[in-house]
Amino acid sequence: MRDLTLLLLTLVALPAVFAVKSHDFKTCSQAGFCRRGRALAERAKENPSWKSPYSVDPSSVAIDSTTAAFTAGVKSSIYPEVKFGLDVRVHRDGVVRVRMDEIDGLRKRYDEAASWALVAEPEVSQDIQWTVAKDAVRAVYGDNKDIEVVVAYEPLRVTLLRNGKEQIVLNGEGLLHMEHFRTKEAVEQEKSGWALPEAPEEGLDLDDAQVVMQMNPRSWFEGAGDDALWEETFGSWTDSKPKGPESLSIDVNFPNHGHVYGIPQHATRLSLPTTSGEDAYYSDPYRLYNADVFEYLADSTMSLYGSIPVMHAHSADSTVAIFHAVGSETWIDVAHPKPSSTHTHWISESGIMDIFLMPGPTPADVFAQYARLTGTSALPAQWALGYHQCRWNYISSDDVRDVQTRFDEEDMPVDVFWLDIEYAEDHKYFIWDKKSFSDPVDMMHDVEEIQRKMVVIVDPHLKRTDSYPIYQQAKELDLLIKKKDGQEYEGWCWPGSSAWVDFFNPASWDWWKSLFKTVSDGDKWAWTESTENTYIWNDMNEPSIFNGPEISMPRDNIHYGGWEHRDVHNINGMLFHNMTTLAVMHRTDPPKRPFVLTRSFYAGSQRLSAMWTGDNLGTWEHMAVGVSMVLSLNVGGFSFSGSDVGGFFGNPEPEMLVRWYGVGAFSPFFRAHAHIDTKRREPYLLDEPYKSIVRDILRLRYSLLPVWYTAFREASVTGLPVVRPHYVVFPQDEGGFALDDQYFVGGSGLLVKPITSKDVTETTVYLPENEVYYDYFTGQTYRGAAKGKNVTVPAELHQIPLLIRGGSIIPTRERPRRSSPLMKYDPFTLRVALSTGGTARGELYLDEGETYAHREGQFIWREFEATTEGKKGKEIRVRSRNLAAQKPGEAVDGVALAAYDDKNDFARAMERVRVERIVLLGLAAKPKSVKAAGKDVDWEFKAGAAAASKAEGSASVLVVKDPHASITSDWDIIIQL
Ligand code: GLC
Repeated sequence: MRDLTLLLLTLVALPAVFAVKSHDFKTCSQAGFCRRGRALAERAKENPSWKSPYSVDPSSVAIDSTTAAFTAGVKSSIYPEVKFGLDVRVHRDGVVRVRMDEIDGLRKRYDEAASWALVAEPEVSQDIQWTVAKDAVRAVYGDNKDIEVVVAYEPLRVTLLRNGKEQIVLNGEGLLHMEHFRTKEAVEQEKSGWALPEAPEEGLDLDDAQVVMQMNPRSWFEGAGDDALWEETFGSWTDSKPKGPESLSIDVNFPNHGHVYGIPQHATRLSLPTTSGEDAYYSDPYRLYNADVFEYLADSTMSLYGSIPVMHAHSADSTVAIFHAVGSETWIDVAHPKPSSTHTHWISESGIMDIFLMPGPTPADVFAQYARLTGTSALPAQWALGYHQCRWNYISSDDVRDVQTRFDEEDMPVDVFWLDIEYAEDHKYFIWDKKSFSDPVDMMHDVEEIQRKMVVIVDPHLKRTDSYPIYQQAKELDLLIKKKDGQEYEGWCWPGSSAWVDFFNPASWDWWKSLFKTVSDGDKWAWTESTENTYIWNDMNEPSIFNGPEISMPRDNIHYGGWEHRDVHNINGMLFHNMTTLAVMHRTDPPKRPFVLTRSFYAGSQRLSAMWTGDNLGTWEHMAVGVSMVLSLNVGGFSFSGSDVGGFFGNPEPEMLVRWYGVGAFSPFFRAHAHIDTKRREPYLLDEPYKSIVRDILRLRYSLLPVWYTAFREASVTGLPVVRPHYVVFPQDEGGFALDDQYFVGGSGLLVKPITSKDVTETTVYLPENEVYYDYFTGQTYRGAAKGKNVTVPAELHQIPLLIRGGSIIPTRERPRRSSPLMKYDPFTLRVALSTGGTARGELYLDEGETYAHREGQFIWREFEATTEGKKGKEIRVRSRNLAAQKPGEAVDGVALAAYDDKNDFARAMERVRVERIVLLGLAAKPKSVKAAGKDVDWEFKAGAAAASKAEGSASVLVVKDPHASITSDWDIIIQL
């Protein structure tokens, strides 16, 4: 009965949501500023003599002695009365920051996006020597003096070159336009004088565009009419636009790069298809406007829940990138005027121009440059890499207990159980619905007993009722977002009438953090009905507002500092989840590593949170695009990402559910989730053989946790992504540039191609090099080719195409356990996959997993190596070394390793942890002996059809059993052939 009531209650709340369709969201032609921006591009294209009216005023050029920045005044010949300021500076690592703002304008443009995104104010290089010439200023820098930045004066054009070759060009097409602030009256008066030009004088050979341009440049430039300048209506919504037009258009070209990636989140291919030019694949530009798009399309440039305005441009020669720190709605057109070159056009509703040019030249350099700007992802708690079981909703404490029991009965590992919005009385987050969850703390303790965790949802909308203490406090403290008239904004979300905290207001920060304390301090509110193992899910933070324009907040709403919502829309969700993460981190002393999942995000979100791709559909198309979206997020610096396993909407057939587990097990974030209307689909409910296949996939994920954790460590240090598309690993191999359905897991050498279509029994995997690859499960070998080669691998339902790149060593833990913390002292297996040259290498990073003790040097970091030595390669050595000792310069999550002591407490506690097995793939012959520390050890050998150096077949497999090797110490194992 209670279930039925719950369902009915929810359905009452749903109709507004279910009404959402893609026509609820604007296309470019329905957004005034995008329409204006595209129209300008169109006019410019049609007019061969078009030249940008923006130019640097040579008399204003200055080099700032403290910041080493080049500054100059910029003017537009079309609006000579308006002043703009340009600031170009080069950071220590060679990144160029280009800023332009209106000076002494009628109002101030929003210029704080970078301050939310950047981890710190970047250090500017003091070594840059600007050479000021009559028509340009330039600086040459870099270790080999191979990078050059040139700011040409007329027209204004900023170019980044390497070895004389253009890498990134700003305003090369002349599409720069910063709409300056004006009054409505002034514009109306001016436009009233813009009569359409007369016909050209006879004999004058000009086309229409040129005529208009000559006769009336302003009308040509911005269009003659009032195109949604002061008010804009979409559906039943009118945006009052009190500041008038203030958009920013800029073209960013990569003349020598044929592929662009990034600008997540969009459900598209990883290598971004074109949106303009002849044969454009999409008709609309890529849109960045965080939105809750119900039943989103699996192939579209429409906005989704988050925005990272970062784009990589790639060719076999170099990788470069740009980051545009803008927080307002932004549309990006992509065109390839020829296959080896890319033009992009960025159109934003408001804000200053603040573009970072990352010179690369390798993908790894670009990731490091972007990480220095916006930070890396902090190392997550290790349990967060396990399997998460979610559903809207587990309906009672006993339901949660029952699900836990069923997982245990079926020997399926799981680390986290999740509670969606129905745990909360009337959707008042923090407040348990005691009818269903009478004993929340006891329930949590039952989960914690197996060393598992719970994640509970806390959304940003607050039910507007004085009986809700959180809302009441927020109101009393004056922390709520306001309408344009200064009154509290009210919108509709899950709880009905709701209000939203303004996280741009610093006064909200400590207050929000205090809400998550588990112990009450006096009579202040504390979440005493939670535990230190309760982690948080932040949803609906675009923000999603059922009765708002485009299911979000009116753009003329007002935030702290008087900024309009339009200025900060894309940043808004990040502030909410950042504060929640800090709250979770600091509810204990010393702090523990937090876990917060967010739906909305911005550049910098990666520092503190994980994300998922939102409400996907249970279709094969959505499963497939989920893979490329996760890769795109990884390109955008947000590694800790995944899609709802199973698909949020719909009831997947068993085959689809099994394949979806294959996708999830190879995503950085691995969570199953389902809509409230779907049938229960916990994996233990499957029939055979599906159930056993999913159990095997879950166990595979757990056995590979050391690989994932090591990859996350690397991401947290270098910014390199946890899952890596081909162009990142093989930047020169053209054959891999467009690939987005197979990828590498960290630097481990594991190459996976999850199956995302029906009835598959085999698939092709692209091998980018002349190297041997081994099937992870069978040792079957495949040989690539120097220019790339497709090989066919089996992919029946119980098989995941998973290959080990020859030359890799994969550390795993293969004892099935119920949760990942229970694996703490489990022994390791090392899979040594010899390269054709008879070598292999791998890494293992391990720490306690939940605290910040690793920042005090409490961890182990090992390197495993295999080499072929002796006469005629008759001796193979496999060894383990302390990697921390070899890389003293490299910090782990902020700790310089010079001070590292390999006898730290954690390492000592792990001394008893053994390598219980070494599986060596690809030996040329049966060994004569295998010795560890001079003594013979047990081994078994299965001859194969092929040695690593030979063609395809099944590799020989040597299994060395219990070689008396601790995971913490140095050892050598010597194999004589
Ligand atoms: C949103 C979320 C979904 C969640 C639901 C109820 O649709 O994307 O994951 O289950 O809200 O909270």
